[in-house]
Amino acid sequence: MKRKVIIDCDPGIDDSLALMLALSMEELEVAGITVVCGNSPVDMGVSNAKKVLDFMGRLDVPVFAGAKTPLKREYVNALDTHGSDGLGESFLPEIPGYEQTLTATSFMAETIKKGSCSVIALGPLTNLATLYQEDPQAFGQIEEIVSMGGSFRSHGNCSPVAEYNYWADPDGAALVYEAMESLGKTISMVGLDVTRKIVLTPDLLEYMKRLDPHTGEFVEKITKFYFDFHWQQEHLIGCVINDPLAVAYFADRSLCGGFEAYTQVERGGVSMGQTVVDSTNFYRRSPNALVLTQTYPLKFFRLFFSRLLGMAEEDLDLLPVLLKGVVS
Ligand code: RIB
Ligand code: CA
Repeated sequence: MKRKVIIDCDPGIDDSLALMLALSMEELEVAGITVVCGNSPVDMGVSNAKKVLDFMGRLDVPVFAGAKTPLKREYVNALDTHGSDGLGESFLPEIPGYEQTLTATSFMAETIKKGSCSVIALGPLTNLATLYQEDPQAFGQIEEIVSMGGSFRSHGNCSPVAEYNYWADPDGAALVYEAMESLGKTISMVGLDVTRKIVLTPDLLEYMKRLDPHTGEFVEKITKFYFDFHWQQEHLIGCVINDPLAVAYFADRSLCGGFEAYTQVERGGVSMGQTVVDSTNFYRRSPNALVLTQTYPLKFFRLFFSRLLGMAEEDLDLLPVLLKGVVS
């Protein structure tokens, strides 16, 4: 049974890989893409989403522009990580047209109210927070929210404790987590604890190119900048592809394990954007998050490659060799 999803994102290199995966999965019906200011300013994000849709031959999927700034704090982009064009300085040609008149939150509300619609959030939670402010009934009707963001025990990537999506808009993230508690629901938090284990390496990219030059060369084009960034930042040979894990997990829950806990997002101060996970139930508050702490890279890459390349998992016989030494 296909599950209808809205993908809320800030493309962004790993967002783009996540969109490619989502569009390749028969389990998902991508009803639309909503864009939020994050890695890229929102208009650049819309442009990049269209470039990915064009590559995938899926410009039938509508793209809607959302928040230009976070709820309260100043907007801080991540173009140092994603390149001046937000797509690894691939400088792909612009895709004219396909403008939408609805705002992101109007599209979200309209689509969610038709029923059975989930949201996979791959950027800051500004659009979801705005939807809650504008139309709490629609927000309450979201079937499920899976968010790439936060971290439990893994160190931050924007401060010692904060992950970019929740650091970029801590008020937006805090409001969404508070809303989930008031609804008695849990948000699936696909945080750095699990996404840091998903590393696209040069060997994996080479394998992808050998199997499918068309897709592999596109992925190479948009990730080269990201490989260089990871080498400069942390002497990592490869790049952490956070967002595709959130999409994969939505479709296959066996990809991650974790626990439910009451979780707050720090709105300011030295730990701004930190997810404070009450793993010992200190506050005796109802869980509002499913905090994911375990994942299986080999299982993920089998799914990622098989869907992106349209191959049977059993034919991807080199993956175990290329992932040797990685927790699988
Ligand atoms: O911290 C990683 C997250 O922030 C990813 O979603 C990346 O695309 C950026 O949005
Ligand atoms: Ca993202």
